[in-house]
Amino acid sequence: MLPINSLAVLAASSLAVSAYKPCPLLGPVFEAPDSLCEANIFQSALRNLTATLDYAGRSGVTPFGKIPSEATSFTVGIFDAESTLFSHQYSSPALKNDTAGVKTVTEDSVFRIGSGSKLITVYLFLVEVGAQYWSHPITEFLPILAEAAQNCSATGNPVDCIDWEHVTLGSLASHVSGIPRDYAALFDLLARLPAGMSPTTFGFPQLPASDYPTCGYNFTNFCGEDGRSFEDMLQTDLFDKLEMVHSSYSLPNDTSDAVMPLGSVNSGFVANIGLEGPVGGYYSSQSDLIKMAQSIMDSKLLTPSETRQWMKPVTHTSNLRMSVGMPWEIWRSTDLASHEVEIYTKSGDVFSYSSMTVIIPDYNVGFVVLAAGNSTTSTVEKITDLVVATIIPALEATAREQTRQSYAGTYTSADASLASNITLVTRPNEPGLIVDSWYSNGTDFLSIIAAAVYGSDAGVDIRLYPTNLVQQGSNATARVQYRAVIETLDTAPDGGLFTPDCQTWAMTAIFSYGFVGLEDFLFEVVGGKVVSLSPRALRTTLSKTT
Ligand SMILES: *[C@@H]1O[C@H](CO)[C@@H](O)[C@H](O)[C@H]1NC(C)=O
Ligand SMILES: *[C@@H]1O[C@H](CO)[C@@H](O)[C@H](O)[C@H]1NC(C)=O
Ligand SMILES: *[C@@H]1O[C@H](CO)[C@@H](O)[C@H](O)[C@H]1NC(C)=O
Ligand SMILES: *[C@@H]1O[C@H](CO)[C@@H](O)[C@H](O)[C@H]1NC(C)=O
Ligand SMILES: *[C@@H]1O[C@H](CO)[C@@H](O)[C@H](O)[C@H]1NC(C)=O
Ligand SMILES: *[C@@H]1O[C@H](CO)[C@@H](O)[C@H](O)[C@H]1NC(C)=O
Ligand SMILES: *[C@@H]1O[C@H](CO)[C@@H](O)[C@H](O)[C@H]1NC(C)=O
Ligand SMILES: *[C@@H]1O[C@H](CO)[C@@H](O)[C@H](O)[C@H]1NC(C)=O
Ligand SMILES: *[C@@H]1O[C@H](CO)[C@@H](O)[C@H](O)[C@H]1NC(C)=O
Repeated sequence: MLPINSLAVLAASSLAVSAYKPCPLLGPVFEAPDSLCEANIFQSALRNLTATLDYAGRSGVTPFGKIPSEATSFTVGIFDAESTLFSHQYSSPALKNDTAGVKTVTEDSVFRIGSGSKLITVYLFLVEVGAQYWSHPITEFLPILAEAAQNCSATGNPVDCIDWEHVTLGSLASHVSGIPRDYAALFDLLARLPAGMSPTTFGFPQLPASDYPTCGYNFTNFCGEDGRSFEDMLQTDLFDKLEMVHSSYSLPNDTSDAVMPLGSVNSGFVANIGLEGPVGGYYSSQSDLIKMAQSIMDSKLLTPSETRQWMKPVTHTSNLRMSVGMPWEIWRSTDLASHEVEIYTKSGDVFSYSSMTVIIPDYNVGFVVLAAGNSTTSTVEKITDLVVATIIPALEATAREQTRQSYAGTYTSADASLASNITLVTRPNEPGLIVDSWYSNGTDFLSIIAAAVYGSDAGVDIRLYPTNLVQQGSNATARVQYRAVIETLDTAPDGGLFTPDCQTWAMTAIFSYGFVGLEDFLFEVVGGKVVSLSPRALRTTLSKTT
């Protein structure tokens, strides 16, 4: 056993001194940027994006690898809650050659969106019945599965029987139910063997007739469907409500807007995928997917709290930067901004089509990428990487600059006998509104907080972050609440798993003065201009002087 003092030496020698790095809470570190159409940094990024996408079309070269641009057409639309900010289409030579459908892709052109359908299906579920059903087992709604669970009970035989009684609607929506995917239609190799040839030719055993799926086996003999037509519900309660006029559950009657680079059959545009429809069969356009995503951002069909509950992860994956929601694919970017940015996405691939629908809640901005042709999955992935790498730094810089213009400056007590003031700044590549100095009635208050909260004379770093709680008054007045994260500059190095240097989430809103939180900061806005700041624990209001 090592003596205790040698452990101390070991700990000291293995841990390097670390520089202070702010640890904001997960979520926006600035208010979402606005007026993006006039924002220089963002517009400059969009000009770069246009040039890069133009070049990708001409040469097939992107910063993230090659795409087969001779065969593949794509469309990219970026939006905020109100409008489309960017729309770029590329039409491949192969598309121009083909006779059916469009020769030139527009934002209204119709693609298949593959598993992008799942996002629409879950959205429809929330609109129709709501999140309270997520915890109910599927056996409540499909009695035949309750019967199946009795015939083959997972209690007695968890190896061969599916535990249908514990498969909830929520687990199905988030891919964590444990049931096999894609019943039989898409990926069963039985359906891929050349017709008329014995499986034994390829090393597969011959199967008894009872092992062949009785339905859903190929795209021609669908399993049965009961009850109110799902297609009707989708059309009436979602597509019609959101005026998604280029979207449909099944093959549109009019295919003049369709993108079919390999012809209608070889492209897979006309293929009916039967009961897989709600998870992968829909048709849509850039313009319609933008309408849908904007309605989510705006909580148009759901309440804001339903939306917040929906836009959360359900489980992690083996990739630390990716989690899964219902049915969101949630990515966490660690290197494009001053904080970790969550990117809510849903990708989809079917036949010669791929789609990506993206919402970045921190900036209230999203985008859609659709592709048709060859290697569309990797084409959409590369374009998504390109868009994210271009817009996130620009959105962050724009948000920081707008925050600086509105809030940075010195706030001073109007009462001359009370020598109180706070100076707020932003710094390039750093998160939040930084408290540069803070005096309360002549006392250096940063030192007081360092001593009171951390018992340290190393000082504190205080940053204000938006809560998005805003009370609008008349005449362009508003009360805007920010919350501070207070961190000691006495930085412990990032140690082991349980001694991290970033765990502010557990420290937030602990300290108060007379029941009012030290983190509670309230700005007052009059005529669209910030006029004062109240560090509410100190029961004082400081007027903006510069
Ligand atoms: C645009 O591209 C140029 C040249 O690569 C680069 O210097 C500039 O920083 C880019 N602007 C933005 C906003 O990304
Ligand atoms: C698309 O891929 C198919 C299959 O690999 C190939 O035959 C075809 O030539 C490709 N189309 C173009 C335009 O490259
Ligand atoms: C377009 O059609 C012409 C004539 O059939 C053919 O020579 C050419 O290879 C085709 N181009 C593409 C990109 O498919
Ligand atoms: C359950 O078993 C009965 C009796 O064998 C059979 O008739 C029925 O089809 C089975 N149901 C299911 C859903 O497997
Ligand atoms: C589809 O499967 C059924 C049997 O389940 C078979 O009779 C039919 O020929 C198949 N169709 C095609 C196009 O393979
Ligand atoms: C498509 O055609 C079918 C059959 O003619 C018709 O019932 C249906 O209403 C049409 N759908 C649309 C969207 O026009
Ligand atoms: C400010 O400090 C002075 C001197 O200590 C004290 O007399 C006065 O009451 C303080 N003012 C407030 C509002 O706390
Ligand atoms: C803030 O108050 C302190 C203490 O009274 C004073 O020394 C400092 O000059 C003031 N700062 C500003 C910007 O007014
Ligand atoms: C609203 O603002 C205008 C212009 O600043 C001012 O004349 C008016 O009195 C204000 N009204 C109220 C109710 O504060």
